[in-house]
Amino acid sequence: MTARIIDGKALAAEVRKEVAEGVAALVRDGTAVPELAVVLIGDDPASHIYVSNKVRQTEAVGMRSRRFVLDAATTQRQLLDLIEQLNHDPAVSGILVQFPLPPHIDTARVVTAIRPDKDVDGFNPVNVGRIAAGMEGALVPCTPLGVMRLIKSVHEDIAGLGALVVGASNVVGRPMARLLLQELCTVSIAHVRTTDLERRCKDADILVVATGVPGLIRGKFIKPGATVIDVGITRIKSGAGTEKLVGDVAFEEAIDVAGAITPVPGGVGPMTIACLLANTLSAARMEAARSKAAEADVTDAAESTEGLGRPASRNLQRNDFNNPH
Ligand code: GUN
Repeated sequence: MTARIIDGKALAAEVRKEVAEGVAALVRDGTAVPELAVVLIGDDPASHIYVSNKVRQTEAVGMRSRRFVLDAATTQRQLLDLIEQLNHDPAVSGILVQFPLPPHIDTARVVTAIRPDKDVDGFNPVNVGRIAAGMEGALVPCTPLGVMRLIKSVHEDIAGLGALVVGASNVVGRPMARLLLQELCTVSIAHVRTTDLERRCKDADILVVATGVPGLIRGKFIKPGATVIDVGITRIKSGAGTEKLVGDVAFEEAIDVAGAITPVPGGVGPMTIACLLANTLSAARMEAARSKAAEADVTDAAESTEGLGRPASRNLQRNDFNNPH
């Protein structure tokens, strides 16, 4: 069997097109022009390239972007003050602080400081909790969001399938497992202390690998016909001073066994920024809905007779706590 290659570039272009249409609709009806604020500290060349790509793609779909490039010596207090200012700026729909941060800044503190409704990375503990509880209104980390889209390009319905996520990071593995659970997959997570990885992989109808260990997953680990998503991306020397990008899956072996597989590069990578744009649009839409509801509440309150009016606030999020799944 030769696996179908899942084209992440084409799917990312589809996501960007959908986002551009969503942005145009918000602008057309005068609701909002979504805006992404990106904060970069220091002069790590790779981070500068990532941020430039984010800004370019944001503007290409019709959103505004604001880039803050801060000196490497910026204090944690100064960064938190900037985040606070952006949290309160009504023009800003989404905030992204580029990682890694300099060692004198506490990343967890920064992640927690970003207002959950503007947290387009989906790293704030409030969003982590919303995803874990299957609540609506969560902003979902971009890579797992992109992976779900890739998986859904292969499977109409993944309920009941066995999924194994290899890698338990907060950025990919853990949110990935929660999203698969939300779709009613039977989910396991493997990590550095997992024993018998090969046997566990062989059980998986959907295998998502995010370890950063090149070639960790061999062809013989894969269940015939499985969908394999390779999140790993490592730059290795390929002789004569050249470099190439490789994933965590031994692609040439896996392609003969899997039913569908993402290539590296050109699989998961392009989806991540596309999903950042989708999250920024979602944040802008949710903010517009909250403002509209707040305006309606003011009208309701003005019209209501004491004790007889409708409640002054409404819960916009349907929290399905009774869902037995
Ligand atoms: N650095 C590398 N990837 C990411 C990402 O997804 N979000 C942020 N904020 N920084 C990163």
